[in-house]
Amino acid sequence: MSDLLLSVKNLRVELTTHREIVHAVENVSFDLRQGETLGIVGESGCGKSMMLRTILGLLPRGGRVTGGEIVFQGTDLLSLNHQQLRDVRGRSIGMIFQEPMTALNPVMHVGLQIAEGPIAHLGFTKKAGKKRAVELMQQVGIPDAARRFGAYPSELSGGMRQRVMIAIALACEPKLLLCDEPTTALDVTIQDQILKLLLHLQESTGISMIFVTHDLAVVSQICQNVAVMYAAELVEVGPVAQVLPDPTHPYTLGLLRAVPDFDKVKEMLDPIPGIPPSLVEPPEGCRFRPRCNFAQDDCATGDFPLLFVEGGRASACIHSDSCRDAALADPVIGSRVAH
Ligand SMILES: Nc1ncnc2c1ncn2[C@@H]1O[C@H](COP(=O)(O)OP(=O)(O)OP(=O)(O)O)[C@@H](O)[C@H]1O
Ligand SMILES: [Mg+2]
Repeated sequence: MSDLLLSVKNLRVELTTHREIVHAVENVSFDLRQGETLGIVGESGCGKSMMLRTILGLLPRGGRVTGGEIVFQGTDLLSLNHQQLRDVRGRSIGMIFQEPMTALNPVMHVGLQIAEGPIAHLGFTKKAGKKRAVELMQQVGIPDAARRFGAYPSELSGGMRQRVMIAIALACEPKLLLCDEPTTALDVTIQDQILKLLLHLQESTGISMIFVTHDLAVVSQICQNVAVMYAAELVEVGPVAQVLPDPTHPYTLGLLRAVPDFDKVKEMLDPIPGIPPSLVEPPEGCRFRPRCNFAQDDCATGDFPLLFVEGGRASACIHSDSCRDAALADPVIGSRVAH
């Protein structure tokens, strides 16, 4: 399809540590269209960050891709050499990390860090780069931008540092922005401001985004589509407006039940019992089975790939009908996540 921007196919990533091999991403496939925002949700350690890092070729030491393709604007990023990847990273794909302090250079003026991309990749002079940096700082809502150009990261608040990160990521007008929990480290009011900013940028520039988060409420606010990840695999994918009120995988249902109900006290939280399996020796059969209320004998063996459900939706659950019935009978599912 012509408006397809990114197509990830059967991606597998391993991380080799001194003693073991972690299967961090297994058989992950999804498509992203121009202008679309895709939310990726899942518990801590399920492989969300590794997947984003793989797209940018930024795997940690010991990490390697063992299979699949990452086709971006018609080119498989996995076939590019170091220099070509650097170019893509600088110009076409931007990334915002969870903790802006570690991603920024502490001894360099923030304005110069924003100007670096346009100077290195778009041929801007130093003067033009500075002008562009100040414009970007204004665009992302940094007050008194010209004066703050010369600030060091430590002189800015967490929210302002994250705005700097966003300005750096947007500096070369990329087609795709990868956001790895960009608001988790910020307090709630600032989180809301940053989300509004990203939403505004998305609407005004038409940039595509992949947004990794733990928070389904955030997904409902800013994403059109959602991919639910469990133990290195995708278990459900589809339009947010369909998936959140009518989940077809028990893990998605569990996440929805765990969304805090702001009208009630915290005890109303209904977390998923148990813990995710090890990614060193993942269990046979459906990986969610030990924690699943709908599991039957046929969930114990075999592979559980995403299967088409309807209308652009896919689920890895072979008993998705029982899950849907339970979700529809649950009066709080629809009301917990506004969309
Ligand atoms: N540098 C590393 N070396 C070895 N294993 C790692 C490394 N970083 C992460 N892992 C492992 O890879 C798996 C996937 O980790 P990843 O960081 O992608 O999870 P995540 O979904 O982003 O979690 P979180 O929500 O906590 O950020 C986990 O099992 C994790 O323990
Ligand atoms: Mg992560």
